[in-house]
Amino acid sequence: MPAQPGSPMQRKPPSPRTRVIAADAPSPAGQVPIVTPTVQSTTFRIDGALNDAMDRGDYRSQFLYTRMGNPTVRALEERLAELHHAEDAVCTASGMGALSALLFAHTHPGDRVLVASALYGVTDSLLDRYLAPAGRTIERFDALQPDSLRHALDHGPAALVLVETLTNPLVDAPDLPALATLCQQHDTPLAVDYTFPNPLVCTPIPLGATFVVESLSKSIAGHSDVHGGLVCGPRDAIHPVWEAMLHLGPCLDPHAATLVRRGLKTLALRTDAMQVGLGRIAEHLATHPDVARIHAPGHPHPLPSWLQGRGGMMSLVLRGGDPRALRFLDALRIIEPATSLGGVESLACLPFNTSHRLPASRERIGLQPGTVRLSVGCEDPDDLLADLDHALSASA
Ligand SMILES: Cc1ncc(COP(=O)(O)O)c(C=O)c1O
Repeated sequence: MPAQPGSPMQRKPPSPRTRVIAADAPSPAGQVPIVTPTVQSTTFRIDGALNDAMDRGDYRSQFLYTRMGNPTVRALEERLAELHHAEDAVCTASGMGALSALLFAHTHPGDRVLVASALYGVTDSLLDRYLAPAGRTIERFDALQPDSLRHALDHGPAALVLVETLTNPLVDAPDLPALATLCQQHDTPLAVDYTFPNPLVCTPIPLGATFVVESLSKSIAGHSDVHGGLVCGPRDAIHPVWEAMLHLGPCLDPHAATLVRRGLKTLALRTDAMQVGLGRIAEHLATHPDVARIHAPGHPHPLPSWLQGRGGMMSLVLRGGDPRALRFLDALRIIEPATSLGGVESLACLPFNTSHRLPASRERIGLQPGTVRLSVGCEDPDDLLADLDHALSASA
């Protein structure tokens, strides 16, 4: 027989074994924290407003399950969309999660996808190993030659164009406004992987890009301690990216969102420090007898007018090829030999055994033996110069 209201059966308090599990009470109201709280919950109580939203088929404006949306992650998405002048954004567990969600949402079997020949090696693998077998035709063009894109677009309709700026690892800056104009003329969305610079250096959407996709693991978070990714763009076009993200599964964890958001607060300070360091290093290495060439934004050619800064990434080509580059990495004492970029600590790595392990990806970008990629951090530039000089002479 069901318990009657007020009956002893109903009043019996739950046992301690149940009470330790019970859902937490909402946080005490009253004062507003200046830091967005980390809502570390995978699921949310289904009640009035959520029920109404679900009735409308709206699973994004309310929170049901963290893979689909979470208040801490949403606050970060809103902040990043605003910084990029985008209507909406989706955060993901990594930059590759962001690229996967975007590519699976906005390309379909039978579609042509036009991609820059200079892309991050893992993006190339995603395209060749997963998108191509899933029926997409991947065609590459030289993003540094807008005519190359013009020919590809004139050749037939394409579902999406994907380029990177600044390119990895040679930090070339494709003419984004020219590429965007071509895409608009052909009614084709342009996605820009914007992992190397950051939204304080330039924002591709006002220049005509449809989507910005980036790894938040780099300069946005800035401390080499968290992975994250972002796709932002027009609201209607972000909705399918969100759907792809929740089906493929790379949602951003709320704690990771908090770390990214904390890092974001010092982005301007870190960017200033990195740019000062990079300027000093580029100037010093450009004339060093052991360095065959440097690749750095603004060196030797001035920055394009639409880039308001150079960021912290550069590459140098050592005389002596890859064996010397390996010795050089070993001899560094302050700059850490590690992959990744954009953190407060300077890092150096060799594209030939990290991002561009595949010979085809090296050939596509014309990577020279002896290339070292440097991510300039926030250390005292004098110490970084001394470290580089030491490693250059120790590796000779
Ligand atoms: C240009 C570029 N895009 C995407 C990614 C992938 O980002 P994540 O490592 O966060 O997946 C990277 C990583 O280095 C990158 O350099």
